[in-house]
Amino acid sequence: MSEIDSLKAQLQALQEKALALFADAADLKALQALRVAYLGKKGELTSVLKGVGKLPPQDRPVIGQFVNATKNALAEALDKAESLLASKEKEARIDAERIDVTLSGRTSTPGALHPVQQGLHEMTAIFSQMGFALAEGPEIEDEFHNFDALNIPAEHPARANHDTFFFDIEGTADTKLLRTHTSPVQIRAMQACVDAGGEPPLAVVAAGRVYRCDYDVTHSPMFHQVEVFKVDKDVSLAHLKGVLQHFLSAYFEKDVPIRLRPHYFPFTEPSAEVDIGCVFCNHKGCRICKGSGWIEVLGSGMIHPNVLKAVGIDSSIYSGFAFGLGVERLVMLKHGIPDLRLFFENDVRFLRRMGAK
Ligand code: DAH
Repeated sequence: MSEIDSLKAQLQALQEKALALFADAADLKALQALRVAYLGKKGELTSVLKGVGKLPPQDRPVIGQFVNATKNALAEALDKAESLLASKEKEARIDAERIDVTLSGRTSTPGALHPVQQGLHEMTAIFSQMGFALAEGPEIEDEFHNFDALNIPAEHPARANHDTFFFDIEGTADTKLLRTHTSPVQIRAMQACVDAGGEPPLAVVAAGRVYRCDYDVTHSPMFHQVEVFKVDKDVSLAHLKGVLQHFLSAYFEKDVPIRLRPHYFPFTEPSAEVDIGCVFCNHKGCRICKGSGWIEVLGSGMIHPNVLKAVGIDSSIYSGFAFGLGVERLVMLKHGIPDLRLFFENDVRFLRRMGAK
């Protein structure tokens, strides 16, 4: 084969191979590499051109035209493949970055106070408005504040009823306990007043956790109480009843009938349990109030002279009333919550339904 025919054949083969590779290029980057490999200074076409110098002069323009045609064909094919790949890549990007504007947004769920805390705040707020001052006491108590000063001496059967969690503090002879009720705050508040050289009137509300070694459907080893008391000259049972009537109607947001039923507590004399007209049947009698129309809600009474004596308040001058209530119980009655355990399981569906107001 003549020199020129061999060159033509080489160019032909190069073009065929190049066009096939261009059409197969996976992406723009690969295509760019092919452009350099074929049309670049050190590319395939250049190396074929090196053979042109060996041709006789009259053949050179002929092959020159052939080379130009090949070059143009490659350039054209590259441009075509490039615009095809560019539009393919653009489509892929648009597909990948597509935003579904109909998708609902991500909302944040605001936190809320636990229903027991909400109830506790509602209750103490009512007493604050009535002029009772907020007080606190420790959850780890001693026998004096939890029992003795409240007229519950060591052998008293009421101590056994309290199902107390006792524990010893290492290195001391003291017996400590988890308070079984909020009544020790009465003692602490009265002591603080006397120690500061003050004297009644004293009107206090205290709320917090209490502990009893007791667990079943209606009892939890930890629950909450609100304790209220007032000490002054001439405080009577009528004041107690008036405060209870106002509080219970304010808390239940309706006029609830109340009644005081004689009872026994060591720290009050006389003592009474307080019932409200059943909030489920409007006092008519139902399954929940066992047909009586009444539901027991709290314990109360006139502060026992021994309690005043224990803190150094003269019971011949001063008298007082006191009462204590279970927060969970009142929240359950107000919102028709059937099971005490719901408060402690923290099922988020229950908490959401009881959400912040
Ligand atoms: N401390 C009592 C209890 O937990 C409740 C109670 C009854 C409190 C009568 C009082 C009261 O202040 O006067 O069972």
